[in-house]
Amino acid sequence: MATNLRNANAASIAIPLILLFTLMLYAVADHDLRITNAERRIDLTSHIIKVFLTLKVENRGSSPASEAVLAFPPNQVDHLALLKAAVEGVKKKKNKHTTVDVNPKLPDGPSGTKYFSINLLEPLKPNAAVTLEILYILTQSLEPFPSEISQSESQLVHYRDSAIILSPYHIEQQATLIRTPSTRVESFTNVEPTHRAGQELTYGPYTDQAPYSFSPIIVHFENNNPFAVVEELVREIEISHWGSVQVRDHYSLVNAGARLKGVFSRVEYQSRPSVSGVASFKRLLARLPPRVHSVYYRDNIGNISSSHLRVGLRKSELEIEPRYPLFGGWRATFVVGYNLPLEDFLFESSDGRRYLNFTFGCPIEETVVDKLTIKVALPEGSKDPTVVVPFAVEQHLETTYSYLDIIGRTVVVLEKSNVVPEHNSAFQIYYKFNPVFMLAEPLMLVSVFLLFFLACIAYLHGDFSIQKLKSS
Ligand SMILES: *[C@@H]1O[C@H](CO)[C@@H](O)[C@H](O)[C@H]1NC(C)=O
Ligand SMILES: *[C@@H]1O[C@H](CO)[C@@H](O)[C@H](O)[C@H]1NC(C)=O
Repeated sequence: MATNLRNANAASIAIPLILLFTLMLYAVADHDLRITNAERRIDLTSHIIKVFLTLKVENRGSSPASEAVLAFPPNQVDHLALLKAAVEGVKKKKNKHTTVDVNPKLPDGPSGTKYFSINLLEPLKPNAAVTLEILYILTQSLEPFPSEISQSESQLVHYRDSAIILSPYHIEQQATLIRTPSTRVESFTNVEPTHRAGQELTYGPYTDQAPYSFSPIIVHFENNNPFAVVEELVREIEISHWGSVQVRDHYSLVNAGARLKGVFSRVEYQSRPSVSGVASFKRLLARLPPRVHSVYYRDNIGNISSSHLRVGLRKSELEIEPRYPLFGGWRATFVVGYNLPLEDFLFESSDGRRYLNFTFGCPIEETVVDKLTIKVALPEGSKDPTVVVPFAVEQHLETTYSYLDIIGRTVVVLEKSNVVPEHNSAFQIYYKFNPVFMLAEPLMLVSVFLLFFLACIAYLHGDFSIQKLKSS
């Protein structure tokens, strides 16, 4: 009863505090910042959309600002795979970019606008200006239109955005450049001035746009690049202190482009390879680490031999060729496995712990992974694993048993959705290991052999005595 009362009291104080705090945050978002110049470049050449945004931000207020706020329409946030920002020329290092933290910011703005806050490192003084370089990546934001095409047709897609950059700040001067994969652009929304030349479409320059200005556009264009989407990738990594790191990648791949209308004609496909099946793909390139060996590539039927491996000093490349070309909506499931030398990936840290340093993400080029699961099986007897990943992932621990394991191995499981090639950066798993466990497996083997040996002796001995008995 007493505790309940205390809680109630705490709540009655906390709620106004939280309210006050949110109001203060809101005030910060509507700080007297102004964007004096904005340039946005949208790269639509792949199915993974990259947007480079350069903002020159000026503080027109009377107090220093510690953050700048980015705004996104809610439907774009759902497809946002990555958002990075860098501040130019702080700490007296001109032309040097410093990567800064970008975090979601609540509450949402007008019509569900989602906010992200960029930490400016050094508070921006009144009348001072700073240049921000922002990169964000959108996935599954190109809608095939028409949604079904025949074997020899080109794939056309729709891209939707706003001609005017969505922002909580007043933007004095801005322009947007959109790059398409080919010169074939069926149509685009015109928002004066709009200009098209070759593969480039320019919206703007627009001057003096009020906060939250928005002007929807649709660009309809050709995009025959592979819309390679891995719906699920389960990557199993097994560390053996006896010399190798084993990797097994289980893929479930789909062509997320326009669906194939009618039946597939292999005759037509093979006789006119340059025209027939332009929107399909039949080869994918996976970048594997150097010194990779024992590579295999198989599906549920068996080994697929039509793949090529080039092992290099700095990287290796595996050309993956499924049994059939993948048309829109078609799927392929397969496994790629390989071994790596332990000394390239396992190290000892200064505090005596061991750590695995491996690459996150999917090794196949220009691929989106809807759901990525990485399972790292540590050697038996490893303790207290800690994970260092440069972005947010879900993680938990499991236990697995393999041959000769007595107490089982700890498996560190990492999960992330909407993974793009820019997520292919190094991550580390640190763990404690008692070298005594190195002896566990050989000891097991020795004792098994010893038992077997003893059993043989006993058997032979037994046999002998019976014979003796008979002969006597
Ligand atoms: C598949 O390839 C692996 C590695 O090259 C080999 O060890 C295995 O025997 C092959 N299996 C079949 C069924 O051909
Ligand atoms: C992990 O490996 C990458 C190269 O693959 C290297 O740049 C990085 O410094 C390594 N990290 C650690 C903590 O060893």
